[in-house]
Amino acid sequence: MVDLMTAKKRVGVLISGRGTNLQALIDAAKTRDYPAEIVVVISNAPGVQGLARAEAAGIPVRVVNHKDFATRELFEAELDAALNQAGVELLCNAGFMRLLTESFVTRWLNRHLNIHPSLLPAFKGLDTHARVLQSGARITGCTVHFVRAAMDEGPIVAQAAVPVDPGDTEEGLAARVLEAEHRLYPHALRLVASGAVRVEGEHVMGMTQQNGQFAVFSPPLPRTL
Ligand code: GRF
Repeated sequence: MVDLMTAKKRVGVLISGRGTNLQALIDAAKTRDYPAEIVVVISNAPGVQGLARAEAAGIPVRVVNHKDFATRELFEAELDAALNQAGVELLCNAGFMRLLTESFVTRWLNRHLNIHPSLLPAFKGLDTHARVLQSGARITGCTVHFVRAAMDEGPIVAQAAVPVDPGDTEEGLAARVLEAEHRLYPHALRLVASGAVRVEGEHVMGMTQQNGQFAVFSPPLPRTL
């Protein structure tokens, strides 16, 4: 019998590369009380390290190579079919490097997360760490947010701050932010998969513990973040 209170959310993960954030989610999902299980990992690029990580964890993998499709819409239709076939309820981008159309984003609205290596809304897009260093910012970090059609936009679930050290290199900063990402993503997915937060009016809201009413919610960041 399925216990509805403890049923784990079925999660699909989209990747394009090495998959270290995927690994962090795989490791978190091994915990008995984690509210999500990864049921499929899909890569748009064949042969990437993330696929090997999923296989090593016994998770079904699919390659949906965008180069095999004449249009973005056809690529996304295949992606969508693979996700539905696996019974995916929640979707996580983890280093997924394809822009998605409004139509796909709408189909997965508020059931679709992304991680970005900056404190959004600052430093959207690529070459984030180089631009942070160039700007002279003293604090950067990472963000998990719900996906919207515009790149790196959408209601913010959780963030972690990382100080920029004097003399930091792009590689050094990227490595420290990545460590924070590996703590943040499992935390944010837990909040969403457990139903502790949801999107209301383009903000992430949480259930107050006192009376069951929804109120503006600032997701608590564990000290370890
Ligand atoms: C991460 O920095 C993530 O924030 C960004 O792409 C990178 C993916 O790294 N979107 P990995 O594939 O998870 O190791």
